[in-house]
Amino acid sequence: MRTPIVAGNWKMNLTHQGATDLARGIAEGCPENGVTAIVAPVALHIPAVAEVLAASPVLLASQNMHWAESGACTGELAGPMLREFSVRYVILGHSERRQFFGETDEGVNRKAQAALAQGMHPIICLGESLQEREADRTQAKVEFQLRAAFAGLTADEAQRTIVAYEPIWAIGTGKTASPQQAQDVHALLRSVLEDRFDRQTAQAIPILYGGSVKPANFAELLAGEDIDGGLVGGASLKVESFLELTRIALGS
Ligand code: PGA
Repeated sequence: MRTPIVAGNWKMNLTHQGATDLARGIAEGCPENGVTAIVAPVALHIPAVAEVLAASPVLLASQNMHWAESGACTGELAGPMLREFSVRYVILGHSERRQFFGETDEGVNRKAQAALAQGMHPIICLGESLQEREADRTQAKVEFQLRAAFAGLTADEAQRTIVAYEPIWAIGTGKTASPQQAQDVHALLRSVLEDRFDRQTAQAIPILYGGSVKPANFAELLAGEDIDGGLVGGASLKVESFLELTRIALGS
């Protein structure tokens, strides 16, 4: 069985005080077992949040990283720097980065390989736009992004990777994919992973849903056989709603 995951993507939000308060509240109330809770603060807040989370079951993610280990890359962050602060996960290819910061499928793949080489777990985001959904191109789009992100990975590396299906039209809009729409895409993604690797590998890879996840809709999304958790933006910014999501995941 795949352990359910609740991953909070804090995006470019919160002050230093706000981030450490939120982390403390989550650390205090998070279930010890049965759910993997992850938070992704802005890079600047990672050291302080790492300290708050040190003795808790809550794990840390970065919202991005560069594929190089060091070098002339102004404004970027390298994997070894993140590892120094106990960062175990890295969100890659979020649609906001693809849309506004020129992130490409090839770049996502290079970053995933670099993260794996650092012993980190990439959380690879993919999903279709509203236009693509309406043009019936959802399957082609997500399959293409998935295959590109996993290019060159071994089955063992693939099993240390997480996928997050985030339909772009559902992010921050209050519109969620229906549980059936989400499950259909998740099942497709798992079948592509099985085709690319093997059944056991495909079954081991967690596939999260993201896009306006909140306590009111999480249980029905998690009921989907191939939906293993959520990558959550807005609803991860309040202690109570994040903790509620972890409790729902625990009961799923
Ligand atoms: P949202 O964001 O939950 O605010 O829609 C999800 C995401 O972008 O990961």
